[in-house]
Amino acid sequence: MNVLIILAHPNPESYNAAICDAAEQEFKDKQYNVRKRDLYRMNFNPVLTENSYSHFYQDKIPADIQAEQKDITWADFLVFVYPTWWSGMPAIMKGYFDRVFTNGFAFRYSDEGPVGLLKGKQALIFQTTGLPEKVLKPPQITMAMQAAFDIGIMDFCGIEVLAHKFLYSVEYIDEETRKVMLNEVKEVVEMVGQQQ
Ligand SMILES: Cc1cc2nc3c(=O)[nH]c(=O)nc-3n(C[C@H](O)[C@H](O)[C@H](O)COP(=O)(O)O)c2cc1C
Repeated sequence: MNVLIILAHPNPESYNAAICDAAEQEFKDKQYNVRKRDLYRMNFNPVLTENSYSHFYQDKIPADIQAEQKDITWADFLVFVYPTWWSGMPAIMKGYFDRVFTNGFAFRYSDEGPVGLLKGKQALIFQTTGLPEKVLKPPQITMAMQAAFDIGIMDFCGIEVLAHKFLYSVEYIDEETRKVMLNEVKEVVEMVGQQQ
């Protein structure tokens, strides 16, 4: 089984990086083949310019984007790790979807409507927040973020979301709680294996 982990965090010492490492290690322990795309370390260009905007609708995909698409094609599982920034994902992660999940690769339009072309793939999402669950859940911010990602992007492209795990209050928790939450990350990864 092939796993592609996509990390969007500028700080390699961040909790997000630790989540990414924990998930990567857990998959490797299970003998999965793991590839990682660390968008900041790669200097990924997230901006869909006029030129690539045209590419989005035509079939002239730039070489750097073709390379990303190859990795997605290779992967059985996609794992996305990112912090909440302004009630959504960081721009670099959003730009990854804008530029890599192109029409004709990730989806196409038919007479019956849009068709997801990444069917058969499954995804795990690990999203950290600064705010506590009790602040984000009652005004439905968590649900809105989850729907936009899981339905608006994953489901639209035919990808089944196995889990969208929020790790709350990361800025306020102590070292012990951080460790407990990293174990929860591993448990989520463990669940993936059990579904095979
Ligand atoms: C630009 C920016 C915007 C943010 N917006 C939110 C937000 O809308 N909601 C929230 O709960 N936390 C927000 N935060 C806090 C981050 O989500 C939090 O610092 C991060 O999840 C902690 O993980 P890290 O230590 O790996 O960075 C924001 C942080 C930054 C830098």
